[in-house]
Amino acid sequence: MKRIGLFYGDFDPATVKTTEYAKTQLKEKKLDEIWFIVGDGDNLRERIAMLKMVTCFRKFRVYTRFSLKDTRYEFTDITDPSLEIRNLQLSDLKLLTGRQRRYMTENGMYLESISKSAVKEKRWDHVRRVARLCSAFAIGNKLDPEKAYISGILHDIAKEMNEEELKAVMDVYYPQHEHYNYHVWHQYVGAVILEKDLKCRDKRTIKAVKHHCLGDDKDPYSMMLYCADKLDPGREYDSSREIALCQQNIVEGYQTVMKQQQEYLRKEGVI
Ligand SMILES: [Fe+2]
Ligand SMILES: [Fe+2]
Repeated sequence: MKRIGLFYGDFDPATVKTTEYAKTQLKEKKLDEIWFIVGDGDNLRERIAMLKMVTCFRKFRVYTRFSLKDTRYEFTDITDPSLEIRNLQLSDLKLLTGRQRRYMTENGMYLESISKSAVKEKRWDHVRRVARLCSAFAIGNKLDPEKAYISGILHDIAKEMNEEELKAVMDVYYPQHEHYNYHVWHQYVGAVILEKDLKCRDKRTIKAVKHHCLGDDKDPYSMMLYCADKLDPGREYDSSREIALCQQNIVEGYQTVMKQQQEYLRKEGVI
């Protein structure tokens, strides 16, 4: 009789630790196969896809439901709830394969919890408002609201890294931009995190994050993010007129916001 280990879980997502554990159990319990039984719920298709990426091994199978009545097998439960991840964080990315990260980012999975884990609560509120504004601007300008939302939700992912941490990344990838005030560095480091850690392949999203502080890029997604960041309704001034303008026409909105920013920075003696 075949000995089967049953591994129940949400696998939200499965990680390399899930596989390591299953392989150990296979040996220790002298099992012939391990069946991963994926719990019902949100994002089932995506959770299965990510689980399959770490279980492509001939003794592993993935099921959503099955019958314990099958007499050809002897079943043993090997479920380990401690391996379940709740709210994937930026620091958890090392537990995912590159392929899993790419899939996750391309399907907009876990980006909220990752971004939230990287910033304090107050900034998280700002980030969420910016993401919502980006998507509203995209709808008004007949662009892709999901793409715009993703750039918004990830734009400040490096904002709370300290100067030393930022500099370490700048030294490797953007030494030519180190002359800017270090408060600007998080736009470049954020772009590096998107590309290297989140395996984002969408050049426009990366570019939008990379230019969101200075606003020095004219791609519509870059302009939308720059404006949304500056016009966040949570800031102290009334930005409703500029928000309406960006929704109608992002090029005109961008020109207005950029002009206002220049005037403000001049007044403050920054430029
Ligand atoms: Fe920022
Ligand atoms: Fe921001």
